[in-house]
Amino acid sequence: MIKKELMVVTKQEEIAKHIFQLTLKGDLVSEMGEPGQFVHLKVSEGTTPLLRRPISISKINKERNEFTMIYRAEGAGTQLLSKKQAEDVVDVLGPLGHGFPIGEAKAGQTALLVGGGIGVPPLYELSTQLAAKGVKVHHVLGFQTKSAVFLEEEFSKLGTTIITTDDGSYGYKGFVTSAIADYNLEYDVMYSCGPTPMLKALEKQFGNKPLFLSLEERMGCGIGACFACVCHTGDDIHGTSYKKVCSDGPVFKAGEVVL
Ligand code: FES
Repeated sequence: MIKKELMVVTKQEEIAKHIFQLTLKGDLVSEMGEPGQFVHLKVSEGTTPLLRRPISISKINKERNEFTMIYRAEGAGTQLLSKKQAEDVVDVLGPLGHGFPIGEAKAGQTALLVGGGIGVPPLYELSTQLAAKGVKVHHVLGFQTKSAVFLEEEFSKLGTTIITTDDGSYGYKGFVTSAIADYNLEYDVMYSCGPTPMLKALEKQFGNKPLFLSLEERMGCGIGACFACVCHTGDDIHGTSYKKVCSDGPVFKAGEVVL
C-alpha cells in the first residue's frame, strides 16, 4: 500500500563524485518488498516547497525498519537532499510502481543484471533477493569514469561483477553490451536499469531471451494521475495506446513499450 510519511535520516554519505547514499527509517518500510520500486521525495527549505523527486530503492532492511537509496545531486531538490543529516526528516511517498519480476528467474538458473550509472542502485536489492532464493547472479555495471563508480564491492559479494567505463579509466573500456559479448556471459534472464540508449541497445541485441527493463522517465505525480510519464506500447500501430511509467512500470518486459 502507498503511504506518506515523514521519515528520519539515519545516515547519509557521498559514495562517488556527486553520488549520495541516504538511509531513512520509518514504518513505510513495512510496505516495501519488490525490488525496482521507487519513492517520491519532497525536499523543502524554509517556505520554498519543491516538486517531489522520484528515487529508486536500492536496499530494504525490514529488521531495522530502514531503506537506502542512491541518487545523484544535480538539481536544486537533490542538492538540498544531499545536505540532510542524521535525525533530519524527509517527506516520503511510496513505495511506488511495479518492480522487477524476480519469479522469472528460478533457483539454479542464472540472472544477468545490467546497470548504467544512476540506474545501478535498484539492481542491488534485486540481486540480493535473487541470490537469497538460489539464483546465480552476474552483474555488468557501466559508468562514465572511475570517479563515478559505486557499489562494486557490495555487488561482488553477491556474484561476478564486471565494471565498465566509457573512458576506460577503470575496468572494461566500452559499452555494457560489448562487455556482455566479450566476456561471453551465459544467463537465463536479464534485468536492466539505466539510460534509454543503453536499454535500446540491450533490447536490440538480447531481446530474443527473457529481458526486463526499468525505465528512467521524467515524472510528475508518480501515482498515475498526471500523464507526464506516458510511453507508447510496443503493439501500438495507431499511436493511441500507452502505459504510464510511474504506475504500470517502471519495469517492463522488453518490447512491451516503445523505448
Ligand atoms: Fe504522473 Fe506518471 S508521473 S502519471
